[in-house]
Amino acid sequence: MSRAAAPAARVTALALESLAGPTMLLDGALRVLSASPGVEALLGEPVPTGALATRVLCGQSVDRPIAEALAAGRAIVGTVMRPRRDGSLRALRVRATPLVDDGAAAGWLLALDEQPSDGGGPDAPTRFHGMLTRDAAMKQVFHVLERAARRDMPVLVRGETGAGKELVARAVHALSPRAKGPFMAINCAALPASLLESELFGHVKGAFTGALREHAGIFRSADRGTLFLDEVAEMPPELQAKLLRVLETHTVIPVGGTDPVAVNVRIVAATHQSLRRAVELGRFRADLMYRLRVVPVFLPPLRARRGDVALLTQHLVDELNAAGERHVARVAPGTLAALTRYPWPGNVRELRNALEYAFVIGEGPVLNEADLPPEVTAPERAEETAATAVNAPPELGGSPEAQRIERALERANGNRTRAAKILGMSRVTLWRRMRELAMAHDA
Ligand SMILES: Nc1ncnc2c1ncn2[C@@H]1O[C@H](COP(=O)(O)OP(=O)(O)OP(=O)(O)O)[C@@H](O)[C@H]1O
Ligand SMILES: [Mg+2]
Repeated sequence: MSRAAAPAARVTALALESLAGPTMLLDGALRVLSASPGVEALLGEPVPTGALATRVLCGQSVDRPIAEALAAGRAIVGTVMRPRRDGSLRALRVRATPLVDDGAAAGWLLALDEQPSDGGGPDAPTRFHGMLTRDAAMKQVFHVLERAARRDMPVLVRGETGAGKELVARAVHALSPRAKGPFMAINCAALPASLLESELFGHVKGAFTGALREHAGIFRSADRGTLFLDEVAEMPPELQAKLLRVLETHTVIPVGGTDPVAVNVRIVAATHQSLRRAVELGRFRADLMYRLRVVPVFLPPLRARRGDVALLTQHLVDELNAAGERHVARVAPGTLAALTRYPWPGNVRELRNALEYAFVIGEGPVLNEADLPPEVTAPERAEETAATAVNAPPELGGSPEAQRIERALERANGNRTRAAKILGMSRVTLWRRMRELAMAHDA
């Protein structure tokens, strides 16, 4: 058979499947006009043209709610149970939409998918303080966090940009006996050493020009609570020594002051690179690493847990739907395939940005592949992006990353905040990477 000779009904079925997943078209009398290949795969048997749809879906027993809705010409979302080969049952979700012509149902569009079984099983999705996953390594992280949080142990979170380090820090705080106390966060890469010191430890009045009044500093503000030290590996050496002293003595000495002030703070630190490696390179004090790294947890990047992409996509689409600008009823299978292929150097944050982009670019109830940002759909680019994931050390593929950053800056007309959004990283991370890559940044 020549490819060009595929019958129109078959082409229509394929087109519908690419937009809406496994689908059947019925005539007004509920007989099958066409069924896409995914339907046969879900049902485990061929679906003959002309067969009665209720019979095909429900066998001899007629599924009442669905059959009644179809008879009444009403749209419905329902569930039918289908036996697997091993005899166990699985739930199929059926969405039936009447195709109204001149006020009457001229036919039906039935979209099918397998109802995710959320009960138990190693792949079942879990939610942990705003973090969703079905990945075994992530679940293990949650288990460790749950236990460690109750004790006052310092936690060190390692993960790429956008992988959820801040969510983890907040979860540890929320699960700890300090939950009612303050949660404070500071990015150790964002400030020059002198400013960072007074932000951390405070300063006395007149400590330096412009120190018009006393400043408590974030350590004292976090008293009886949790302090999140983000990008801790970037801390300048002289401050590493001071931080170590604070952790050992449980006191801070404000800049320009002489008297130590007692502080009671639980530390959660985060880093995108291995702290051990930073120690080996002589950039980080070993003694401080041992203080911070009592409970080390590693958040795997999104590309290492591809099963989470669909789960997170559904979750983020729900969130974006709730914002109300547009209602996406369905993510086209091609969209999901592209999202699952892409290596996500900016992890969940980048996924969220890509979906936000697609929400704005496209319209209607289906999220289409063509509406995704170009870097997500262009596979040749994707490999390059994976090789230059934002967290790759500059010596490994730094220059393609510089190009990637430059492209994003171009697209954002030089606007750093928008460029960071496109790249799926925080503004601070973008700034740091530009500095590490010795890129001009004069804004
Ligand atoms: N497992 C997850 N489930 C749901 N949302 C997530 C998950 N992981 C991350 N997110 C979301 O992704 C975004 C980035 O997370 P977060 O700010 O914690 O990342 P990060 O590791 O601190 O990144 P950076 O290093 O750039 O600061 C947030 O919007 C967060 O809500
Ligand atoms: Mg963060």
